Amino acid sequence: MNEKDYIEINKASYDIVAEEYKTKYKNNDGANKFYEILQEFVLNKKNSSISKMLEIGPGVGTLLKIFEEKGFRTTAVELSKNMASLACENSSNSVIINGNILETDFMPKQFDFILAMAVIHNFPEEDLIKLLDKIKIWLKDDGYFILDTTNNKVTETGFFEKEDYNNNVVRYRRKWKKEDLETFMEKQGFYIQDSVVYKDSTSSKEWLIYSFKVEKSA
Ligand SMILES: C[S@@+](CC[C@H](N)C(=O)[O-])C[C@H]1O[C@@H](n2cnc3c(N)ncnc32)[C@H](O)[C@@H]1O
Repeated sequence: MNEKDYIEINKASYDIVAEEYKTKYKNNDGANKFYEILQEFVLNKKNSSISKMLEIGPGVGTLLKIFEEKGFRTTAVELSKNMASLACENSSNSVIINGNILETDFMPKQFDFILAMAVIHNFPEEDLIKLLDKIKIWLKDDGYFILDTTNNKVTETGFFEKEDYNNNVVRYRRKWKKEDLETFMEKQGFYIQDSVVYKDSTSSKEWLIYSFKVEKSA
């Protein structure tokens, strides 16, 4: 498999698991607890009654729905057509664009929050840098970029099988190690405002959750 085809491979892979994803996250205590942490994370930083949020890769739209209900103006860009269609059903007050975030554009300083939950590991480092450059443009000066990804013993890249699903699909994954990710983000001008390490007892994964501020250009 060629790394440059990773977008097409990921798109096909998430199309296949979309229905299973929806069922899996509906009654999952681990996921629900996780979403509680995340809500606190965002709501603690909300400084006005209306905030604009962009979610990158919302999957089936579980978080979008939660933030819609909290009064956020929510927009999302989702690569997989099947995921995007479930997200539309789930969160009908959000603007959902079915497309690749790397090929999407927004006006500068549009968003108070940009979220990328379980998404940054879908990009090779070179493209993640391109994405972070876009995020810097799209965020308001006092905006936050919030992400999570799993903590791994070593930083490695490749096409890995999605083990915890019935359909044995592969997708590109850049597995991050905590220290490497923090150094990398700082190098791109993203400074940690808050962070939590969440151990999901149902999957034994360790999730790193961060809220970043962006370095202001002179
Ligand atoms: C592991 S899922 C996470 C879904 C959801 N954020 C969650 O935490 O449950 C990653 C999602 O990111 C989407 N995605 C991956 N690459 C993307 C891209 N280049 N542009 C937009 N969405 C992308 C995938 O289609 C998938 O729905």
